[in-house]
Amino acid sequence: MRLEPQEFHRIAKAVREYAGITLLDSKMALVQARLAKRLRALGMSEFGSYCQLIEGRGEDALHERQELITAITTNVTRFYREPHHFDLLRSRILPPLLEHARKGGRVRLWSAGCSTGEEPYTIALTLLELLPEAGRYDVKILASDLDRAVLATASRGIYPERALEAVPGPLRRTHFDPVPGEGEPCFAIGSTPRALISFRQLNLTLPLPMKGMFDVIFCRNVVIYFDAETELSVWKAFSERMSPGSWLFVGHSERVNTLALPMFQSDGVTSYRRV
Ligand SMILES: C[S@@+](CC[C@H](N)C(=O)[O-])C[C@H]1O[C@@H](n2cnc3c(N)ncnc32)[C@H](O)[C@@H]1O
Repeated sequence: MRLEPQEFHRIAKAVREYAGITLLDSKMALVQARLAKRLRALGMSEFGSYCQLIEGRGEDALHERQELITAITTNVTRFYREPHHFDLLRSRILPPLLEHARKGGRVRLWSAGCSTGEEPYTIALTLLELLPEAGRYDVKILASDLDRAVLATASRGIYPERALEAVPGPLRRTHFDPVPGEGEPCFAIGSTPRALISFRQLNLTLPLPMKGMFDVIFCRNVVIYFDAETELSVWKAFSERMSPGSWLFVGHSERVNTLALPMFQSDGVTSYRRV
């Protein structure tokens, strides 16, 4: 099954329009390799029919555009990935926010591009370390992703034991339960951290549907796929949902251009505050 340059450009156009992701010509072999399996699953023998499918307007086309993004992006994530962010959250950011919650205030955190859930669950565990009864207060974590398949895994919250290596022992014992009969030893996230999180499918390149403000946004290792213009529009949209002093975390290879966006000020390694 051969992908012709003209078909690659049709696929690249759909990916750019749907998810703000730029596929350079150098990615043609990668796209061919990743999509060949998808075409076989659909019973298609050439990329021309696939292009027609993703360019359509109906539910099938929408579903397939999501499958396409799943095939070409990576969902790699880990518990306590880039641990310095969670150290900062624990030592500096959460104490005043949780004090606010104890007095009846509202606290909102968002894992934007949460993949299979390790990031929002790590946020929940960090929060519960400081305030074990967080569920009694108005403290909530939104976990969103474009990809419904990873969101289903996130919401299920079952992980192999080896994925929990970075989770501190006491938190592992308190907040994970062994799951019988899953082949290799697996653990399910407990109901206390789970209850703090709502999962929602959201495309960050479209206007944000929610109206409330956030105190902390994690958007790590997501905009690496976006072109510069789309990336800027995502940071701008976040800034409109953040009050002065609130925090934005980005991935290790990402930066917010504070010259273009003076509403963000760098504070720490790949962390920013809303001015
Ligand atoms: C590499 S994972 C990052 C997971 C986690 N934030 C971390 O740093 O470990 C990137 C995630 O971004 C999601 N993503 C890509 N484009 C997106 C978009 N336009 N809107 C929302 N999520 C998107 C992908 O589906 C994927 O799950």
